[in-house]
Amino acid sequence: MKEQIINLLKENENSFVSGEKISEALGVTRAAIWKYIKRLKEEGYNIESVSRKGYKLTNSPDRLTFQEIAPNLKTKFMGRKIIYLESIDSTNDEAKKLAAKGEKEGTVVISEEQTMGRGRLGRNWVSPKYKGIWMSIILRPEVDPIHMAKVTQIGAAAVCRAALQMGIKTLIKWPNDIVLNGKKLCGILTEMSAELNRVNYAVIGIGINANTEEEDFQEDIRNVATSIKIEQGHDIKRKELVANILNNFEELYEEFLDNGNIESSIKVCKENSALIGNQIKIIEKGSSVKAKALDLTNEGKLVVQFENGKVEEIISGEVSVRGIFGYI
Ligand code: BTN
Repeated sequence: MKEQIINLLKENENSFVSGEKISEALGVTRAAIWKYIKRLKEEGYNIESVSRKGYKLTNSPDRLTFQEIAPNLKTKFMGRKIIYLESIDSTNDEAKKLAAKGEKEGTVVISEEQTMGRGRLGRNWVSPKYKGIWMSIILRPEVDPIHMAKVTQIGAAAVCRAALQMGIKTLIKWPNDIVLNGKKLCGILTEMSAELNRVNYAVIGIGINANTEEEDFQEDIRNVATSIKIEQGHDIKRKELVANILNNFEELYEEFLDNGNIESSIKVCKENSALIGNQIKIIEKGSSVKAKALDLTNEGKLVVQFENGKVEEIISGEVSVRGIFGYI
């Protein structure tokens, strides 16, 4: 009912809707409406109530509910169902559980905070409440599992394009980081359940430090992690960024469904690469080798040249990549 009331007020944003009209449209008593309005105000909606005029919505909070995201959503199936949580251990874990029970492709799990957010290679992911975008998308692609590493590239391209649409120029640090002003802004964690030649489901987890503050990061990562708020000095509308990401993700993912083709995503990843042309260190199982990043293949592998001149294509797997002097 709360949702229906807010929708009605949104349709008439900045003008009054009488209690009588709401009551008639939704079939509830005016006393009940008053209670729902009280709850909505507690959730951060600014609603003016004036006797004999009714209720006027003057501002909506930056919450990542379907209702708040939907006005900017242009997708057919991506994010058309959003499971919104106040708190969860990890949205990837929750999305995997739901996917295993048959939840459909395109469903998104978003939580305002994660108590055990996970990163790649067993790292943890700081996910403070209301400050970031912690979300996981359920996918059920009918492609060979060998193509699945490409999903991370699609996610990276979607985030990069979405941020640019909001005037934020980021770079993509292969395979799964998005970088803003030389520091990590976003990480992507793709996980899947598959048989030899068929994907049961996959989950792409996207973590973006949108409005995270310096003190939210543990001291040991402050020199490598950042947020849009730290870099721009003000909050950004998370709900708009989520919608933009889902819009871009659906478009790029649909290309992928055609036989694992990720040409458009690779174009974005190359044009906005933080690595190509630079000297890097490739770290695998604790040992590190220097190389130059040359290119990305159409399959999403990083082409590197080692100091002995040998050129190789590396796959993301267990590798982590750093700049010679620091994070990039
Ligand atoms: C990395 O850079 O190592 C990947 C970080 C991925 C973080 C996101 S936040 C939403 C989703 N849920 C998780 O537990 N992890 C991913």
